[in-house]
Amino acid sequence: MSIAQFSDQVLEWFDDHGRTTLPWQREPTPYRVWVSEVMLQQTQVVTVIPYFQRFMEHFPAVFTLAAAPLDEVLHLWTGLGYYARARNLHRAAGVIMAQHGGEFPQHIDAVQALPGIGRSTAAAILALSTGQRHAILDGNVKRVLARFHAVDGWPGQAVVEQTLWGWAEQHTATVPEQRVAHYTQAMMDLGATLCTRANPACARCPLQADCAAHQQNRVGDFPTPKPRKTLPVRATTLLMLHDANHHVLLIQRPPTGIWGGLWSFPECPTGWDIQDWCEQKMRCRIDSVEAWPVLRHTFSHFHLDITPVRARVQHTSGVMDAGASVWYNPASPQALGLAAPVQRLLERL
Ligand code: ADE
Ligand code: SF4
Repeated sequence: MSIAQFSDQVLEWFDDHGRTTLPWQREPTPYRVWVSEVMLQQTQVVTVIPYFQRFMEHFPAVFTLAAAPLDEVLHLWTGLGYYARARNLHRAAGVIMAQHGGEFPQHIDAVQALPGIGRSTAAAILALSTGQRHAILDGNVKRVLARFHAVDGWPGQAVVEQTLWGWAEQHTATVPEQRVAHYTQAMMDLGATLCTRANPACARCPLQADCAAHQQNRVGDFPTPKPRKTLPVRATTLLMLHDANHHVLLIQRPPTGIWGGLWSFPECPTGWDIQDWCEQKMRCRIDSVEAWPVLRHTFSHFHLDITPVRARVQHTSGVMDAGASVWYNPASPQALGLAAPVQRLLERL
């Protein structure tokens, strides 16, 4: 497809499905759009609407906001959360009075220099209120572009973000002069209503035919999630104790902790000699001890490096101090809830 088809399709969709009657769209001055964008940063449209209307009744212009006590601003913000947004709004109103004669600035650098306004918010305010051509890249737009262009990598990484800004700028550059505001709103709406994080409505999406993620059937892979922190590693030894009939001893884990309530091999804590542990804790003697290669099992919060040790039980007094236990016959398995690595090891026995 040609690069301009992207914005054409987005605008065509906007003409039929875009939002055009939101309160801040009716009289889209930079001041009103600024307040709405700050409110919309972490809050959904439906929640924002009544707050926006009350805010505008109290503070219809920058100078009324700047003159108000901070407490009054925070009071009107009660329930919206993220109160730093309200403090920054109030502070920025003071800066606009002091540095811009009370008029909301119309140069992108001046807008971005105001407290609480980043690159994308500054671009959105000017594009939506004045039609100036600026690319935006909020969370919704990042998701649309990451999917459409199949951009790999976590967008929190600077290089990935730069790639996404590059695409945002290329598409914005193709928008007809008079339609930058519509395009900007359309991209936000597309991300918020169709190209959602979970279950995007690709079937109704104007970009579907050329969307790389959709074509590759990899919509769920984008945007790449934040890489997980490296997990700590714990180690343990699982004892695969078998008798002369090749039945294997399984014990039921306590109800809490890893594998709670599941059946597992007895776990010999690190630091114990296996023979001693069997004699003291399992009341049995073992021979033909055979250590298997380490098996890594990963939980959400740590890796568990399991050393499986196979050993034959020579003699047992018949009394175990563990809780419930069974001699499990791998040849005719019983229906037991098994811990995943235990299942894998049983298959190899
Ligand atoms: N989220 C942030 N800005 C928005 C806007 N102008 N419309 C809808 N959702 C938004
Ligand atoms: Fe998003 Fe699906 Fe549209 Fe691609 S086709 S942009 S994944 S909604």
